[in-house]
Amino acid sequence: MAEHKAIRHHEFGKPQDVLKLETVPTPEPAAGEVRVKLLAATINPSDYGMIGGSYGRLRELPAVAGREGIGEVEALGEGVTGIEVGMKVRFPEEGTWQEYACMPAADLLFVPDAVPVEQAAISFINPPTAYCLLKKVVDLEPGSWIVQNAGNSAVGVSVIQMAKAMGFKTISQVRREELIEPLKAMGADHVVIEGSGWAKQAKELTGGEPIRLALNSIGGESATDQIKVLGTGGTQVTFGGMVGDLVRFPTRFLIFNDVRLIGFWWDKFCKTQGAEAVKEVMDAVYAMMADGSLKLPLEETFALEDILAAVEKDKGPRLGKVLLKP
Ligand SMILES: NC(=O)c1ccc[n+]([C@@H]2O[C@H](COP(=O)([O-])OP(=O)(O)OC[C@H]3O[C@@H](n4cnc5c(N)ncnc54)[C@H](OP(=O)(O)O)[C@@H]3O)[C@@H](O)[C@H]2O)c1
Repeated sequence: MAEHKAIRHHEFGKPQDVLKLETVPTPEPAAGEVRVKLLAATINPSDYGMIGGSYGRLRELPAVAGREGIGEVEALGEGVTGIEVGMKVRFPEEGTWQEYACMPAADLLFVPDAVPVEQAAISFINPPTAYCLLKKVVDLEPGSWIVQNAGNSAVGVSVIQMAKAMGFKTISQVRREELIEPLKAMGADHVVIEGSGWAKQAKELTGGEPIRLALNSIGGESATDQIKVLGTGGTQVTFGGMVGDLVRFPTRFLIFNDVRLIGFWWDKFCKTQGAEAVKEVMDAVYAMMADGSLKLPLEETFALEDILAAVEKDKGPRLGKVLLKP
């Protein structure tokens, strides 16, 4: 029986404690299924939540880790028509840190050939989240100001480039000076340093225009600063909590500025809005990746075997995503 490598965990915990490189049987595609070969997978903060047992949905154990990856169709099960070996598709989501997996042909998400493979690998979670945050949460007039934290995250750099293309203006909060120029080169209007007191100068940054939307994936003081700079009736969307700290809400801004706090989860959007809505978002992402107006930086590529070194790299200071390749 054919076998392949997979990064699995048999319990929830820290990646370095629970992840194991294992050899598992390579499945044969059943009727109506295809087998997909991994080309490249990514590491996302939500992977740590899934491995650690704290995410909004968890897998049965033992589980193959990883949620995002690009693959190519490698074998067709009985009765599968209209699909060719070699087509680029999203790797089956329930475990991308492995070499092969099968899935129903009807559920495949196809990636246009015009999208570079390494961009496609990081296209399925963060860019569509950025697109939804800009397009699906509040109605923004062209020229509207947006503030976001984690400006150098994959969501953050997607927001910067998409906002530019959509005619919105951005203030991006980051933790390191050396990120200012690279983010400006991607189209950021202003890049500010967390903890520098930047919020006091927000009016000068926007030329007195109100900030309509705040995108928060950090929490703590970083999120509180955003609430303070939002204009009357502005909305803060929380979609991540990297510091793990509570967002401390300054009451007066709710009362006097009518600020709104809401959440967003791409997984829920996919589940509740239907395939057509997801396709519309992905088509928009792929159009931008194909014409080069959306390009996410990449940090480094590791072999599956080097998963712990990859995780260490991922947790350190970086601008782009860490990729895993077979
Ligand atoms: N709700 C959803 O549907 C959804 C979808 C996609 C992503 N997300 C969330 O969006 C966020 C970004 O994801 P991503 O994949 O784009 O991230 P990423 O590319 O892996 O980058 C991680 C970012 O988090 C920052 N960060 C990490 N720890 C931090 C801390 N303790 N304090 C402040 N900043 C910290 C990093 O800043 P440094 O470089 O300074 O370390 C970096 O900007 C995550 O919270 C993720 O869970 C949510």
